[in-house]
Amino acid sequence: MKRILTALILTFAAVTLSAQESSVLVNVVCGPFVQNVTTTGFTVVWVSDNDAIGWVEVAPKDEQHFYYAERPKFYDMSGCGIKPVNKIHKVQVTGLEPGKTYRYRVMMKAVDHYYSQLDIVYGKEYGANTYTAALPEITTQKESYKEVRFAMVNDLHEKDSILRSLFSDEKRNKGFDFVFFNGDMTSTISDEAKIMNHVLIPASETFASYCPLYFTRGNHEFRGKDAIKILDYYAFPEGKPYYTFTYGDVFFLVMDSGEDKPDSDIEYQDAYCTEPYLLQEAEWMKGVVASDAWKKAKRRIVFSHIPPDTKNAWHGNYNMATIFLPILNAAGVDLMLCGHYHHYYSRKKGEHDAAFPVVINSNCERMEVSVTDSKISMEVYDADGKKVHTLSL
Ligand SMILES: [Fe+2]
Ligand SMILES: [Fe+2]
Repeated sequence: MKRILTALILTFAAVTLSAQESSVLVNVVCGPFVQNVTTTGFTVVWVSDNDAIGWVEVAPKDEQHFYYAERPKFYDMSGCGIKPVNKIHKVQVTGLEPGKTYRYRVMMKAVDHYYSQLDIVYGKEYGANTYTAALPEITTQKESYKEVRFAMVNDLHEKDSILRSLFSDEKRNKGFDFVFFNGDMTSTISDEAKIMNHVLIPASETFASYCPLYFTRGNHEFRGKDAIKILDYYAFPEGKPYYTFTYGDVFFLVMDSGEDKPDSDIEYQDAYCTEPYLLQEAEWMKGVVASDAWKKAKRRIVFSHIPPDTKNAWHGNYNMATIFLPILNAAGVDLMLCGHYHHYYSRKKGEHDAAFPVVINSNCERMEVSVTDSKISMEVYDADGKKVHTLSL
């Protein structure tokens, strides 16, 4: 009797511990898009229609097929040792060589149920097509740059058709080291699907699968029930939506400029605490401008959705002018790029109390910026490809 009981227990344990499978499928519904390209890696982000474990496989761009060899697998490490089961996947690829082009393949395993680590029911696996479509490619940063080129758009306010028009020329897109979204790409995030449908899907289908995308919030990205979820869709290099990154000797500081009215305004219904948040950001900024990396940089460019203003200013401009300008004015900034006003403005150093030029892009045009040791130049194009402004600093 004892032997029979033991056999039954062992059989039960074997059944319980064997991998269970279901027919649940998983597919990509948004992305992939690439962020945080460095000299040794990059981050791939995508969204799936079902819960899944995601990973990325990477191969150098060479004459061999992707299936030539087993490729290294990179997992989402945000679970600190546990593979996250998610719909939003953020995978950091590491250990690459500078200035080299790599192919990458998004992979997933659907998870139907996850009762415990002993009782997971997996669904079907997904692998990006390598038979009839070319895999996306990304080039790591070079160790030095004679010229850094990027494009910036802002304030499209969910007009994804304009976004698609502005990045319809693949050859031109491939000439950018990165693209920057300078806020108000949405209007009110009542549903997180808006973040995908109006911004990230058009971005990934035009440029962002092969050209890195950086982002900051505009005041409108604070608005709506799902506004807080926008933070899940971007892999911020320092974990917060204010951050820095470099390309060679060019240092980029990305600000999060908050809302345009005081937190106590009746329109906000007690939903915000942006003012203490901006003060935290200011403390962080003091550390950035005191760092060796900032001091050694040959060029220093700041992105902020809301410009600093001291005349006819709203509260958001006032915050920029009073909290951040005292830090930035003493820090040797070469240029600040903004949005928010929906019209193009170019301000010389000294205007509105800023000790550096401030250039504000419109709500329907693509600003292209070239940065070298000797000059910073800008060209602005409309959605028909017509050049509408040029500026050289
Ligand atoms: Fe706007
Ligand atoms: Fe705005």
